Amino acid sequence: RRPLKVALLGCGSVGSEVARLMTANAADLAARIGAPVELAGVAVRRTGVDRPGIPDELVTTDATALVKRGDIDVVIELIGGLEPARTLLTTAFAHGASVVTGNKALLAEDGPSLHAAADSRGVDLYYEAAVAGAIPLVRPLRESLAGDRVDRVIGILNGTTNFILDRMDTSGAGYAEALEEATALGYAEADPTADVEGYDAAAKAAILAGIAFHTRVRFDDVHRQGITEITAADMAAAARMGCTVKLLAICERTPDGRSVTARVHPAMIPLTHPLASVREAYNAVFVEAAAAGQLMFYGPGAGGAPTASAVLGDLVAVCRHRLSGGSGPGESAYAQLPVAPPGGVVTRY
Ligand code: HSE
Repeated sequence: RRPLKVALLGCGSVGSEVARLMTANAADLAARIGAPVELAGVAVRRTGVDRPGIPDELVTTDATALVKRGDIDVVIELIGGLEPARTLLTTAFAHGASVVTGNKALLAEDGPSLHAAADSRGVDLYYEAAVAGAIPLVRPLRESLAGDRVDRVIGILNGTTNFILDRMDTSGAGYAEALEEATALGYAEADPTADVEGYDAAAKAAILAGIAFHTRVRFDDVHRQGITEITAADMAAAARMGCTVKLLAICERTPDGRSVTARVHPAMIPLTHPLASVREAYNAVFVEAAAAGQLMFYGPGAGGAPTASAVLGDLVAVCRHRLSGGSGPGESAYAQLPVAPPGGVVTRY
């Protein structure tokens, strides 16, 4: 069989690990897919940087030309942000490529129109890496649970804030001190706003709510409150009530079952709840489904290798579809249940 050609857009901590694993696992990937996969080009912001294992001739700063080549089977987008990622993905679909992306901001903003663009060409849009890093979650919700009725999804979707709240809980530290530790250990960025104000978790919540309830939920539909006002006294009060405080993303059907709500805010959960045991920078998602009952997904939600694992799993899936001529679930899977305002924060789950 001819090799399937892959264009990699973005070569940071996740992208470089994807490239490394594509080479290191080449024989296994070829066996699982049924054809070899070949890295055909790597689009980067700057050349002249040492990228071990990636031949110089594959590296380009012209991502547009790479996705327009016409012989690319799969575009892996790990640039992030809305533009130029949106235009690049639209161009990739227009040229018949399938897409694997980790771009939560773009999916939370424009998921349905990207799906529609993929559908119009009969190609795939897969994004396991966009939510909770290594944890298999997108495909379980989109595919494995598609025959069931999901009623509620509660997630710890941001590792940085979970680390901060865990430190406050276990050591009695204040918010500022715990944030300082998270920064020193490399969890929090120099500007931690996206994490501590809940923007990162809200984008992930929009994606999860959309696929769990087969509807369209955008970032702006998600009620959002961060953790910056949580104090050591709040933590101590929660502990006295047998609870801990977590930044939760809560996506659920309204009691009449006719619409969905999505919100991200700090909430107390009893120490007996499985989500209370999620420590440090781990992520977890608790799903309640009518037939399946309660499910818990747990694991590393960030980092180069864990996120690359999710990207490569998607790569195998979309390559298999390219060979078989099919594609995964698309825009028609959205039933368009309306999104209702969240109706206030629940301080204790
Ligand atoms: N900054 C995110 C987190 C990781 O702390 O979970 C990437 O989504």
